[in-house]
Amino acid sequence: MIELSKRLGTIVGFIDKNKKVADIGTDHGFVPNFIVNEEISDFVISSDISKNSLLKSVELTKEYKNEDKIINRIGPGLEVLSISEVDIAIIAGMGGLLISEIIKDSWDIAINLDKLILQPMQAKKELREFLVNNGFEIIDEKIVFEDRKYFEIIVAKYTGKNIEKENIFFEVPEIPYNRRDEIIYSYLENRIEYNKMLIDNLKKSCDLNKVDNKIKEVEIFINNCKELLNEI
Ligand SMILES: C[S@@+](CC[C@H](N)C(=O)[O-])C[C@H]1O[C@@H](n2cnc3c(N)ncnc32)[C@H](O)[C@@H]1O
Repeated sequence: MIELSKRLGTIVGFIDKNKKVADIGTDHGFVPNFIVNEEISDFVISSDISKNSLLKSVELTKEYKNEDKIINRIGPGLEVLSISEVDIAIIAGMGGLLISEIIKDSWDIAINLDKLILQPMQAKKELREFLVNNGFEIIDEKIVFEDRKYFEIIVAKYTGKNIEKENIFFEVPEIPYNRRDEIIYSYLENRIEYNKMLIDNLKKSCDLNKVDNKIKEVEIFINNCKELLNEI
């Protein structure tokens, strides 16, 4: 039996039943095999740019005898798919900039998906900016705390709409905040503490003039987070 981590379990929670799914950059193949074993989907494309990573998925597919339901493909990003071949694509565990590049590089495939389930490790703000500035709507988001880290899962869909977003919500997940998800309190407190430490470290820099603007920017962010907490 495959036991998914909290992060991967939350990603799977966004997959609607009986949809065709692609897991891009699958690595171990846990998600494809889990969703087939649990009868969430019977058509999954499991892909990775790395041969070594994909081999793990191929082995797991064999172990669970899922070869008739999982297609393992090697290649970069969404390029392993054709237009409308799947309904949902997962791109998790990569940097936000790489995720944006993957979407940009296969634009026609990306805009025809029912949803993209994205889990950036870094550059979350830049990924949200890319999505919102390019006609993707953020339709859901969740924050997960695991291994002493906060992970942010973004569900997006291309609508072509021009959606206004307050600046702070490119940094802080807006839907969990508006929904008052329990985790939002500790998440905001953590962001405040982390950024206070960042300022302390910047102040130790030998050339204060160079970091002055950065310090001001971080101070504004901290104040915005405090305001969000006060409004809850
Ligand atoms: C850290 S693992 C994440 C695995 C899994 N998605 C998860 O979230 O647990 C990142 C995987 O993405 C793959 N990868 C990196 N760049 C890629 C790209 N452009 N296209 C497809 N896979 C890529 C790597 O080979 C690696 O197996």
